[in-house]
Amino acid sequence: MTQDEMKKAVAEAALEYVQSGWVVGVGTGSTANHFIDALARIKTRIDGAVASSEASAERLRGHGIQVLDLNSTGPLPVYVDGADEATSNLHLTKGGGGALTREKIVAAASEQFICVIDETKQVDYLGAFPLPVEVIPMARSHVARALVAMGGSPVLREGFRTDNGNLILDVHDLRILNPVELESDIDHVAGVVTNGLFARRPADVMLVGTPGGVTRIVP
Ligand code: 5RP
Repeated sequence: MTQDEMKKAVAEAALEYVQSGWVVGVGTGSTANHFIDALARIKTRIDGAVASSEASAERLRGHGIQVLDLNSTGPLPVYVDGADEATSNLHLTKGGGGALTREKIVAAASEQFICVIDETKQVDYLGAFPLPVEVIPMARSHVARALVAMGGSPVLREGFRTDNGNLILDVHDLRILNPVELESDIDHVAGVVTNGLFARRPADVMLVGTPGGVTRIVP
């Protein structure tokens, strides 16, 4: 089974967490794209979706699924999204696709966060995947120096702007033993919009695609 087949299987399994009449929070990336394609099959039963990126909004609209503004929906019952790394505590690194800020907003506004990954994303400690940090452009150097002081090696994501018009620093060389603390510490640097650690608000359920099928992890 290929990695993409595992992503597709796990994304389809997440449909089980969607009920009729709901507005569904939708993430970003290749696994989330499989979820959007699966959601299209039940589109007449849902009331619409809130997207965590322009790319996901476009894909949803392409399937004829109504995309709603989070300001008009109120809290969402469920958010489904992938991750770049995940621990058994359901702490995540996200933002490989650069959508971390909107992803964190939709996750925060959702009662249940269902994280859908293939087994290659499972780790004992976060940090092998470079941690994305969204930064206001004028603060790029200031934030980079602060990240170096925290033990990281930030690298500017060349030629990339987020949907919010900001930059991404990808921070290498972190072995993240306390993701809750590091998430807060990075967010407190002036000029940081968000970082890709999802530890203060971890996933509620993790579905993992493996060659033997989809397994479910809860904290
Ligand atoms: C985008 C994300 C994605 O969830 C993450 O990058 C995983 O992507 P994929 O499903 O393509 O492996 O955080 O900002």
